[in-house]
Amino acid sequence: MIRTFLTLAFLATWCLVPGAFAAGDAPALEKQQWPFQGLRGSYSKDQLLRGYTVFTNACMACHSIKYVGHRDMMRAGFTEAEVQALAKNLDMSIDQKLLTAQDDQTAIETFGKVPPDLSLINKARAGLADYTFALLMGYSEDPELIHHSFPKGLPEGAHYNKAFPGHAIAMPNPLTGPDLVTYHDGTPATVEQMAKDVTVFLQWTAEPERVERQHMGLYVLIYLVLFTLLAYVTKRAIWKDVKGH
Ligand code: HEC
Repeated sequence: MIRTFLTLAFLATWCLVPGAFAAGDAPALEKQQWPFQGLRGSYSKDQLLRGYTVFTNACMACHSIKYVGHRDMMRAGFTEAEVQALAKNLDMSIDQKLLTAQDDQTAIETFGKVPPDLSLINKARAGLADYTFALLMGYSEDPELIHHSFPKGLPEGAHYNKAFPGHAIAMPNPLTGPDLVTYHDGTPATVEQMAKDVTVFLQWTAEPERVERQHMGLYVLIYLVLFTLLAYVTKRAIWKDVKGH
């Protein structure tokens, strides 16, 4: 009897605990449709350039992308002249990485911490690209919402964010309103559009080799098809003679 009770109690705990975690502080993320997802996923040069524009104008004051520089953008289909022009706009050489001018000491004095390098951020957080997007869209000044999580008020210097675990983030909302940037292709720069584009750019920085890998995959396929055809033709030619006897 006691054993049955213990087993039931154990099972009940086992079933309930994951539910308890799910209801905890990690907010559910909305799944987005990303153009880079799936077997045929890819990056459009226009969207990468839009994302780059958002990053350099609205993020790079605080964040670096230490693994990627302008020259790397040639791997995504930009020409040397194009990346030269982009780098020149920022007074950089194409071999310099996209480093912030803000030094760590100033960051700590201002925010209490150093903003993380964003090169790999889309792979470093649960929720991946969906998280980065939700974070950028997740700021709110709604007093009720804030009071619900922080009955005694937000911690000093923190900002309320729905997607950030714990909801108190040291980063001020970087996308405060539309038209923070002007896009080269005339796309209206709504907050959502800027959040999407910069998230796509950060996905690319996290895997710049993917575009090449996809091209490589295509070449391998073409090679295999040609090779199979050649093998077939050769086989026919050889066996024609054998059968002739
Ligand atoms: C004014 C400085 C500043 C700007 C501008 C800024 N950030 Fe941040 N960012 C921070 C700080 C500080 C943190 C650390 C926040 C924390 O851990 O509380 C941070 C953290 C992050 C994180 C990591 C969150 C996590 O889960 O740890 C991401 C992603 C991010 N920023 C993206 C961006 C993007 C994208 C932009 C541009 C659209 C941007 N930031 C602009 C200061 C900034």
